[in-house]
Amino acid sequence: MPKAELHLHIEGTLEPEMMMALANRNGVALPYADAEAIQAAYRFNSLQDFLDLYYTGMSVLHTRRDFFDLAFAYLEKAASQNVTHAEIFFDPQAHTERGISFDTVLSGLTDALDKARRDFGITARLIMCFLRHLPEEHAFDTLEHACRCKEHIFAVGLDSSEAGHPPSKFDRVFAEARRHGFVPVAHAGEEGPPSYVHEAIDLLQVRRIDHGNRALEDPVLVARIVREQIPVTVCPLSNRSLQVCPDLALHPLKHMLAAGMLVTVNSDDPSYFGGYVNENFLAVQEALALTRAEIATLARNSFVASFLPERQKAAALAAFDAFSAKW
Ligand code: HPA
Ligand code: ZN
Repeated sequence: MPKAELHLHIEGTLEPEMMMALANRNGVALPYADAEAIQAAYRFNSLQDFLDLYYTGMSVLHTRRDFFDLAFAYLEKAASQNVTHAEIFFDPQAHTERGISFDTVLSGLTDALDKARRDFGITARLIMCFLRHLPEEHAFDTLEHACRCKEHIFAVGLDSSEAGHPPSKFDRVFAEARRHGFVPVAHAGEEGPPSYVHEAIDLLQVRRIDHGNRALEDPVLVARIVREQIPVTVCPLSNRSLQVCPDLALHPLKHMLAAGMLVTVNSDDPSYFGGYVNENFLAVQEALALTRAEIATLARNSFVASFLPERQKAAALAAFDAFSAKW
């Protein structure tokens, strides 16, 4: 199926083999002997468990070429799975904090987006995330960088350790980002309570909720998400890996669909969670016995919930419907 991917951290696509290769290329010492040892370390009890390895892993990324290689490999893989459009998170603070310049990161990523569009026809946009475990002042510094290169960054997001870092902590920097024309999104309700989802909507004025699982604990909130058709980017294999939903047979995706939520399926950090977007579709189909109609709705929703310009969105939906009719 043609599809868009809307919840994907580019640093989370760093495969063990590339991590080892870049560690050698850049003379970075990793606490792993080889790619198998990296893979063996990927057992997580919580979001924080994963984040600790995620930040260690990305320490091998140093040069513009490294960021190009990382993003191009993802886009090639995504295109091979018939992802025709991707809206990609990146975490500039995780790089600037260790002395890599914002421009090194952004130029490597945009080089890859340009080449992938030429080579595979895949379109992509960048969503710059603020790390929520850091103070809001740091996010303001990062936003200043983004304002110098607005043409390359479409949206701002919020990620990293959720518990104890509510959206309200970033109220002012999101207001400033919106004033500059960046579209707001935020991770909310992955581990954090439903009140964080409320805050993301009311204070940050998000146009999509990333994860949103715990919104289901609050029926008033669910009714609002349905009424306003606020898209929710669900990441099944991530949810299983991080113990948000250890058993996919109990994953709420089918209920979310039945409730009328505009939900999509995404891979989050595919190198860490065991699969790209198609593996996520296969896993939920198998665990939840999704019907063909439900699968088609999930894929179609990815275009509806995308930030594609209206004409491109209409074209993508027409192409999807033509595909769907044949299928
Ligand atoms: N949640 C929060 N922060 C993240 C994630 C996630 O799933 N992936 C990468 N950073
Ligand atoms: Zn995420």
